[in-house]
Amino acid sequence: MACKFSFIIPLFCIFLACSAYQPWPYAFSELDCNFYDETCPQLQAIVRYGVWQAMSKETRIAASLVRLHFHDCIVDGCDASVLLDDTSTFKGEKNALPNRNSARGFEVIDRIKADVEEACPSTVSCADILALATMEAVYLSGGPYWSVPLGRRDSTTASEKSANEQIPSPFESLENITAKFISKGLEIKDVVVLSGAHTIGFAQCFAFQRRLFNFKNTGKPDPTLHSSMVQTLTSICPNGDQSANSKLAPLDSSNEMFDNLYYKNLLNNKGILESDQVLMQSTQGGSMVQYYSMYPNRFSDDFAESMAKMSEIGVLTGQEGVIRKKCGIVN
Ligand code: HEM
Ligand SMILES: *[C@@H]1O[C@H](CO)[C@@H](O)[C@H](O)[C@H]1NC(C)=O
Repeated sequence: MACKFSFIIPLFCIFLACSAYQPWPYAFSELDCNFYDETCPQLQAIVRYGVWQAMSKETRIAASLVRLHFHDCIVDGCDASVLLDDTSTFKGEKNALPNRNSARGFEVIDRIKADVEEACPSTVSCADILALATMEAVYLSGGPYWSVPLGRRDSTTASEKSANEQIPSPFESLENITAKFISKGLEIKDVVVLSGAHTIGFAQCFAFQRRLFNFKNTGKPDPTLHSSMVQTLTSICPNGDQSANSKLAPLDSSNEMFDNLYYKNLLNNKGILESDQVLMQSTQGGSMVQYYSMYPNRFSDDFAESMAKMSEIGVLTGQEGVIRKKCGIVN
């Protein structure tokens, strides 16, 4: 890794993202934090401004960008495939079940890309812009700053089917979710740490509604959901009311702030999604949750490390892929 010195917070780079984690099977060393130093020195400033501007209109967009990057990386790598519209030759990921009426932030990336194209035409990939925007979004939400390794290239195709198969669902078991992460070179620790992204943003009723009423045909709410939370969420999503499907519940009560409340909530059975609360079902998961609930700075550091790792999954580099001119279409 060639991330020597971050001009903003040098210690973060030296101790976290750029030296602390181990190599793994995916093209890890081909990215470089200084990749655009010569070809697009304004890049990070442009991305930061674009994210800041979007967040000043709607704070939640930070969360949406972070999730978009996750959904890009988890399906065949961080190659901006998630940003592609359907074409006559493929159905893209935008309309896959986990993304349809749910993934957000496309216009923000498109706008930043347009500014980047103006400054440095045909130079910076959409995949890199999304990775950088994610870091800025976390940082501007009060989370860690880390040096983002760059040099990704963009895919020329996308797959609705792969997105349906590979993005974890909130109704899956911890084993299944963990297996999906492991298949991408991540591990159980990354599942616990990256799920901490649910410290910001919202979930729609359809993602947790089944916990509230007749959970798994018991006629009762999910026993691992605190009764006060059942009440709160029921007031947002009334029983059987399909029209409430898209109503929003905050993923935690400080959901504009990147903090460790998420983990404290899990200890009290107050995780919103089943996939959040199941972290407590394994001994290993439970002890990590306890740890991060007690040490916010450890969460912050480990989140930066896991994000840097996630953002290198299956990247295209060198002559692979392309630099798209617009993120939604193949050139
Ligand atoms: C571990 C498996 C995961 C599952 C099952 C899961 C599932 C979900 C679901 C169902 C939502 C609500 C979507 C909606 O209602 O439209 C959501 C929101 C969100 N997820 Fe995850 N997620 C997982 C992991 C992650 C990871 C690894 C990240 C990022 C590193 C992440 C970041 C987010 C963010 C920030 C939001 C809020 C988005 C917004 O407000 O627009 N999630 N997630
Ligand atoms: C876990 O994965 C297996 C194999 O794909 C599947 O049959 C099972 O239904 C999944 N379990 C849950 C709870 O999602």
